[in-house]
Amino acid sequence: MAPVIFEPFKIKVVESLALLTREERERHLLAAGRNLFGVPAAAVTFDLLTDSGQAAMSTEQWSAVMHADESYAGSRSFARFESSVKDLCGYRNVIPAHQGRAAERILFSLVSGPGKVIPSNCHFDTTRANIEYSGGEALDLVIDEASDPASLHPFKGNINLSKLERLVRERRADIPLGMVTITNNTAGGQPVSLENLRGISAILRGAGIPFVIDACRFAENSWFIREREPGQQHRTPTEIAREVFSLADGCTVSGKKDALVNMGGFLALNDDELALKARNLLILTEGFPTYGGCSARDLEAMAVGLRESLEPSYLEYRIRSTAYLADGLERNGIRTVRPAGGHAVYIDARALLPHIPPGQYPGQALACELYLHGGIRSCEIGSVMFGKLARDGSFVAARNELVRLAIPRRVYTQSHVDRIIELAAEVGAKAKELRGLRMTYRPQYLPHFTGRFEPV
Ligand code: F0G
Repeated sequence: MAPVIFEPFKIKVVESLALLTREERERHLLAAGRNLFGVPAAAVTFDLLTDSGQAAMSTEQWSAVMHADESYAGSRSFARFESSVKDLCGYRNVIPAHQGRAAERILFSLVSGPGKVIPSNCHFDTTRANIEYSGGEALDLVIDEASDPASLHPFKGNINLSKLERLVRERRADIPLGMVTITNNTAGGQPVSLENLRGISAILRGAGIPFVIDACRFAENSWFIREREPGQQHRTPTEIAREVFSLADGCTVSGKKDALVNMGGFLALNDDELALKARNLLILTEGFPTYGGCSARDLEAMAVGLRESLEPSYLEYRIRSTAYLADGLERNGIRTVRPAGGHAVYIDARALLPHIPPGQYPGQALACELYLHGGIRSCEIGSVMFGKLARDGSFVAARNELVRLAIPRRVYTQSHVDRIIELAAEVGAKAKELRGLRMTYRPQYLPHFTGRFEPV
């Protein structure tokens, strides 16, 4: 039997959980139009909406915060941040930004545009949106196994290298850069293997195309490589992460994930000329290049967080705990995307609620019941988010109907995870009774944030 999972830290500051009755939650959910984004956090017991910006900071991070030098230009905090990023990634230019999408916006307004195509395994929503906003095309080339929730492929985040090769052969001149997202959030928090990263690097660099990694969850990806890839077991997560970054020419990072902070991000690039343009653009919307939309205290916390998230004891606990949640759900008949991802567990709502058609949003129905029954806030990733109306007015469903339980870093304990499994199992046991929903308000863009629902 595997040893008990325990948090490799002790707790110094606590925050009470909101414990409401079902009736109280019903009132909140109705007022929010059955959209969990509209429910106040004070009415949520287990907030698994996202892992982004939710981390609990360590004593080292908080003490670094107190050292912050908030000077407008040339702050000492920037120097510490820059050296922490360079030590890990090795890129020559480090450009802070207030979060991941700000780094993406700057990068793509410089390199993308009409006629351009930017390949990746799967672009995250904001990356895709920033590419499309510039007039470019965001192309997903993930391997086929990624769309099969039951496939046990150990690296379901991998890019299909032959598709990438073909694209490079046919449209070399239209590709300003190639990307890969580690871990692949859109396809279930699934990792990308070192072998695949080496392959991507060889194809892109072989054709003289810069390679930029969306590296929000670089530490979790390194742990998966260490655990699952032949010949990597003797290496530390830091050594693996350094090799991964060395295969590329730059990265965009939302510090709100593996840098263990509540706000912050960066763009790092080897190309001095591109970095110069990026810094000039940064000044327009983010701020001077030594703070770039962050407080110096954010930079200090990120500098420390980037190192802490690579600690083997932390990563082992983190990845095992996520898998433990998935296994617990599976044991109770709730199918999840296999194998479990790094930062989240994705419930297959179509499998749990076969009586609710995609046009009646099974994922949203399940997310609402998880909240009503147990105060668990999750996020639908299915036809609410990706469903579309065709020209003839018919409804085109998303590929999968998933509900994401994202795990904030260092926030919930193992007994919280046990309680979440218990509550979800109770919801699963009465799945047949759940009813579908219709949308009473569907905004043109990003409907999952503000859409409203009622039962059919
Ligand atoms: N790239 C990936 C892979 C992400 O998961 C996110 C954010 C971003 C970029 C954008 O970063 O939020 O700092 O601007 N993902 C969050 C989530 C929002 O819930 O998965 P940001």
